[in-house]
Amino acid sequence: MQMKILEKSTIGDLELTNRMVMAPMTRSRADENGVINKLAVLYYGQRAGAGLIISEAINISEQALGMPNTPGIYSRQQVNSWKEVTDAVHRAGGKIFAQLNHAGRVAHSLNRKGHLPVAPSALAIEVQEAYTPRGQKAYEVPLALSVSDIKQIIQDYKSAAINALDAGFDGIELHAALGYLPNQFLMESSNRRTDDYGGSIENRSRFILETMKEIIGVVGPARAGIKLSPSVVVNNMLDSNPSAVYGHLISKLNEQPLAYIHLMQALFPLDELPHYPKNPLESFAHLTDKTIITNGGYNRESAEDILQHNKAQFVSFGSLFLANPDLPTRFELNAPLNQPDRATMYIGGDEKGYTDYPGLDVQSFKTT
Ligand SMILES: Cc1cc2nc3c(=O)[nH]c(=O)nc-3n(C[C@H](O)[C@H](O)[C@H](O)COP(=O)(O)O)c2cc1C
Repeated sequence: MQMKILEKSTIGDLELTNRMVMAPMTRSRADENGVINKLAVLYYGQRAGAGLIISEAINISEQALGMPNTPGIYSRQQVNSWKEVTDAVHRAGGKIFAQLNHAGRVAHSLNRKGHLPVAPSALAIEVQEAYTPRGQKAYEVPLALSVSDIKQIIQDYKSAAINALDAGFDGIELHAALGYLPNQFLMESSNRRTDDYGGSIENRSRFILETMKEIIGVVGPARAGIKLSPSVVVNNMLDSNPSAVYGHLISKLNEQPLAYIHLMQALFPLDELPHYPKNPLESFAHLTDKTIITNGGYNRESAEDILQHNKAQFVSFGSLFLANPDLPTRFELNAPLNQPDRATMYIGGDEKGYTDYPGLDVQSFKTT
């Protein structure tokens, strides 16, 4: 019997060849102008067997830049380079969404032509350090955004969404996870504002809800999704009541014509944070009737199990897709998997650990 994860399915009006999603992964191989290199065309094309690919996080503006060598979608050259990627994925029968990002305070002036990062409030990330060309540095105190700055950023998401459609993307994912700007608005540890964008949970959710609305206005209903990580505390995402925050946000998102909610499970033990939901899928999926893509640490068996029990409709895989361009075929044949090489995962470089992971030799695998 065919595995459920390999069944055809739909997200919105998009027909997908299976229920496997490639999770967004920053690979830091763009040039200094935020233009992806030619290898990216090969990299994404190799992985087009995924039902849906979510691109690496893409900067919506120069101001949005966090990590060095991350790509943008605000200049003509950047848009044209993405066209080659979307063409390659479509030619291979796949679908691809652009993950739009603004790093907010997860950034350093040394990576931003000397400009300080911006954020909801002037609160620096503590404990962690930023990667810079001069080594690891303490995070700087970001500049607090004015209300007109915030409105401008929402317009920057809108422009980036227009550019993403122009570049041939099938839809947009708002990156509201892992401590980046939208996530910073949500949490008390990064938002101490006293205006409409801070204070109450309703106010802290406003930035995400307004941004989603603008993006949907561009791409149309059921072509925009959002990624959330309620129980991942990286980049100091701390709050006294994360369950109430995400409960409210997800209920409000349910009122918008979203394609999906991409919900990360907890990645690390939460022993010191007992008030954080241990299983976000269990805690929040029942608050929405939208399609759920679950993510975080799944393998062939655990992903199939989640789908069989109708706990989610899709499962996304990060490091497994990174190391296995033909992951759906390997799942189908229950073939061995390549292991991801940590050294070449995040920090740029060339084809090593990017486009050189071998595909399965199906013929010889079947005869052994
Ligand atoms: C190299 C690498 C880069 C990542 N970059 C992003 C990113 O740009 N945007 C994002 O939302 N998540 C990013 N993530 C997180 C993944 O999308 C995913 O949530 C995480 O890897 C957990 O899934 P997995 O256990 O299947 O790998 C990244 C993960 C890895 C390994």
